[in-house]
Amino acid sequence: MPEGPQATLTLRKATVKDIEQETPDAATYSFSVEDGRDVADFSPGRFNMLYIYGVGEVPISVASSRWDRFLMHTIRSVGRVTNQMAKLRRGDHVGIRGPFGVGWPLKEAHGKEMVIIAGGLGLAPLRPAIMEALHDHAKFKGIKVLYGAKTPQDLLYRYEFGRWAEMGGLELLVTVDKGDPSWKGHTGVVTSLLNKVDILSEEVVAFICGPEVMMKYAVQELLKRRVLQDNIYVSIERQMQCGSGTCGHCQLGPVFVCKDGPVFGYPRVKMFFARGEV
Ligand SMILES: Cc1cc2nc3c(=O)[nH]c(=O)nc-3n(C[C@H](O)[C@H](O)[C@H](O)COP(=O)(O)OP(=O)(O)OC[C@H]3O[C@@H](n4cnc5c(N)ncnc54)[C@H](O)[C@@H]3O)c2cc1C
Ligand code: FES
Repeated sequence: MPEGPQATLTLRKATVKDIEQETPDAATYSFSVEDGRDVADFSPGRFNMLYIYGVGEVPISVASSRWDRFLMHTIRSVGRVTNQMAKLRRGDHVGIRGPFGVGWPLKEAHGKEMVIIAGGLGLAPLRPAIMEALHDHAKFKGIKVLYGAKTPQDLLYRYEFGRWAEMGGLELLVTVDKGDPSWKGHTGVVTSLLNKVDILSEEVVAFICGPEVMMKYAVQELLKRRVLQDNIYVSIERQMQCGSGTCGHCQLGPVFVCKDGPVFGYPRVKMFFARGEV
């Protein structure tokens, strides 16, 4: 099997091994990939191109870490290709190309406090970063995860939160925009959780992923708390075709989201936030 850039161009057959229904419209699929490079060869925050034979191909973040048995993708059905993915069952096949892109710069957070802010499905690309940090938590001054979703039913990975907490070093705060009778937790937008934690300001490295408006307000709130803009990273979504920097489909000003991102240091993309283009 080819390695390096060539490997990303090769479509590999992946078999669905397991499915976890996360929310009414999103599920996590565990895949076994034909050449066995299931969970190796990626850093948190990168993505694969997933291909449904005869339908089309979409970029989906890698949700697994190197401690997971299979390659995992959490997929929400929103349209033509992802609606077909929602019909996948154990034993079905998809095509996979990747991994692509630049992920979360975890080493930048070593010796600092890592603050992760995720909205809705935005927790998927952050899950491997959280796993990586928790396995190495002594390297950080703290790990804070602030996670928000629309309703309790829209929270991803709830069944794992207890295990994450047991690994040590983690402060996890969860909120929903709208609770239900069973919800005993916080209610409000995810940025409101910043009022419930003390963060180390200049010593924070923040990773943010979620709807664009949420990321915009999260950045504003962090800057108000004297977090340095050079220490803020965001993950950006754009429609993609090649995934490898050749077709120009994902271009955002001078950057290609597929090749230069999807994770960017905030200073590099802040002009697009200011113009409302992100
Ligand atoms: C780097 C990257 C990582 C991604 N990671 C994930 C992931 O981990 N899990 C995941 O589920 N998705 C992820 N996405 C988004 C995913 O690629 C799109 O949802 C998918 O391409 C939609 O294709 P479709 O053919 O199903 O929908 P289309 O038929 O193309 O779109 C149908 C409708 O859905 C709308 N739509 C398209 N994308 C989205 C979206 N993201 N959210 C809401 N509405 C949308 C369109 O505007 C259109 O109205 C990622 C995207 C990028 C760029
Ligand atoms: S998707 Fe083709 S250049 Fe980015």
